[in-house]
Amino acid sequence: MALKNSGANLNLRVLPNIVDDLKQLTVYTRAAVLRIKCSTHFLAQSLTMKTRQLNATSAADLEATEVILKEGGIVAVPTETVYGLAADASSVDAVAAVFAAKQRPPTHPLIVHIAGFSDLDKWAEDVPEHALTLAQAFWPGPLTMLLKKASHVPSIVTGGLDTIGVRVPSHPVLQRLLQSSGLGLAAPSANPYKHLSPTSARQVLDALDGRINAVVDGGECTIGVESTIVDLTKDDVMVLRAGPISPSELSAVLNRQVLVPAQHSAVVPGNMADHYQPRTPLYLISREELLVKMQLPSESSVFVVLADFPAERFVNRLANKISMPKNKQDFARVLYKTLHELDSKNFNAIWFEIPPQTEEWLDVNDRLVRASYSIT
Ligand code: TXA
Ligand code: MG
Repeated sequence: MALKNSGANLNLRVLPNIVDDLKQLTVYTRAAVLRIKCSTHFLAQSLTMKTRQLNATSAADLEATEVILKEGGIVAVPTETVYGLAADASSVDAVAAVFAAKQRPPTHPLIVHIAGFSDLDKWAEDVPEHALTLAQAFWPGPLTMLLKKASHVPSIVTGGLDTIGVRVPSHPVLQRLLQSSGLGLAAPSANPYKHLSPTSARQVLDALDGRINAVVDGGECTIGVESTIVDLTKDDVMVLRAGPISPSELSAVLNRQVLVPAQHSAVVPGNMADHYQPRTPLYLISREELLVKMQLPSESSVFVVLADFPAERFVNRLANKISMPKNKQDFARVLYKTLHELDSKNFNAIWFEIPPQTEEWLDVNDRLVRASYSIT
């Protein structure tokens, strides 16, 4: 029996695989229900709400944050990677509000943030031994583990999947919130779907003011790119999203080879080729190509070069140029900030020098390739 597209368009034929087909039908139905829930929330949310601006240095503001979250509100909070849009992960309504605010498709799962490894069994089942090994080495920190979802976790959190992404963040503000509230917090990056992730409260407000209950200003994120996602649900351990922790670091700790799928693979729902995009077209080009482009400068473009770019080769003094740090960590920390700033200046193009192609730079290369992706 074949099922086409959605639960609304079924082409029922023969019976032999009825059990599999019914399972499939359940998945389609769940997705349809999620879609309806999220669009209802989206309509409710399109009425502008007042977004409270809270400060992480104020104990009263942190208490207020906890209250909002416990009442089912959605709050942008700082993490060490990027700002996350947090909601009580056990509340279907709160999680639906996150999807609505971001306009994120309901099939794109969220990461659940917890206070520590000891909370993991509230969210995941059949946790393999190497999860503990990785947690001891990298938690709290920028590592998300993909595990089998505990059956009671609302399926809206995982976009209908039976796996769940879990992370223990190291940011002191979020750690404190997780510990004092006792909640698990579902938190995608606090940006509209497919746009650049925010690394400051200002960037969150620029995109989501009026669509979320509050933002907690905890200063700029120290890492600047999203966590590494590692899949522990299969025999092979695989990195699904490159991040601050490299495949070699994971392999060394696990004492086995961790696989890396080709870039742009859609293994992770939501891992779209055109994610993390500025509004201004961004072109990734080699230094040689940049040198040629710079001969014909246009006042309405900007060149983003690496710090070791030879100044004497930058022939046209009128052209707009900015330098990126040579050190990978510094580069990652300012990447989104730089793109947000350039995006606000209405250039008609960003010409970005391709960073080094080594494993250390895998995550920023991944984000830049997606930022430059174009379907034309
Ligand atoms: O550093 C980070 O991970 C940040 C901060 C806020 O913690 N969060 C973040 O969340 O980047 P988000 O939603 O923007 O990206 C999460 C990625 C998505 O590509 C999503 O599809 C994937 O994780 N993901 C989450 N749960 C998954 C699951 N059960 N199966 C497959 N992919 C999953
Ligand atoms: Mg994101």
